[in-house]
Amino acid sequence: MYGNFSYKEREYIFLESTESTNADMKKAVRSKKEAVFSVIAADSQLSGRGRLGRRFFSPDGGIYFSVSFPLSRKEKNIPFLTLLAGLAVSKTLEEISGIKTQIKWPNDIYYGGRKLGGILCELISTEYLTAVAGIGINLSLSKNELPEELSDIVTSFAAEGIEIPDKRAVIRAVTEKLDRYVYEAYELFEAHNEVINEIRERSYSIGKKVKYTLGETVTEGIITDIKNTGAAEITLADGTVKEIFCGEITQ
Ligand code: BTN
Repeated sequence: MYGNFSYKEREYIFLESTESTNADMKKAVRSKKEAVFSVIAADSQLSGRGRLGRRFFSPDGGIYFSVSFPLSRKEKNIPFLTLLAGLAVSKTLEEISGIKTQIKWPNDIYYGGRKLGGILCELISTEYLTAVAGIGINLSLSKNELPEELSDIVTSFAAEGIEIPDKRAVIRAVTEKLDRYVYEAYELFEAHNEVINEIRERSYSIGKKVKYTLGETVTEGIITDIKNTGAAEITLADGTVKEIFCGEITQ
């Protein structure tokens, strides 16, 4: 239970095509007076969005969905929700498809050194504070369908020769895990060591030499930890240790 309602009563909406499931979810949340517990999924998106205002290539045959999380207090730890979503996706793909994926801080799902999926979390403040976790996983995308600049960086189930899973089963399993993380076990983003350790174990970033870009500034260092807050810890060449919450790392 969460307040007067149970999140187990989530409404699932499956669309053939839409502009962006995150945009649809934000519109739905803004148009309702009550807290929205929905999942909006689509077979394709015409203008799928990624982090930092980028486009998320979303042709037919992928998994694209958004889940809304009404929050009971003024909690704004969106970096941590992004990591929880990464963990839920990584564990689900291991359970359903038997593959070991990794979480590239802050929002990418990696397989064999390439991006298999991405997460975009956004916060909406209406009567309720609602977080939206948008998740995209590349399934049937073939190598020659990919824009050229992405072909070395991005992969898919089909490109890796992995059997395509049942999309709805993946969506439901990820949502169920995230509901548990957010509303039961982890009390709205208060990181417990257990979950942070799981995120660390699946990290594609810890131990890697990276370039960190924030606005115009680029710094080099090594990612040395992922903190309970969702921040990445970066150790610079001169030994200075910093915690970063936003910006981008290139590995
Ligand atoms: C990224 O790689 O920067 C994040 C990609 C997030 C894509 C998902 S697909 C479902 C949801 N709807 C969107 O428009 N974006 C997210």
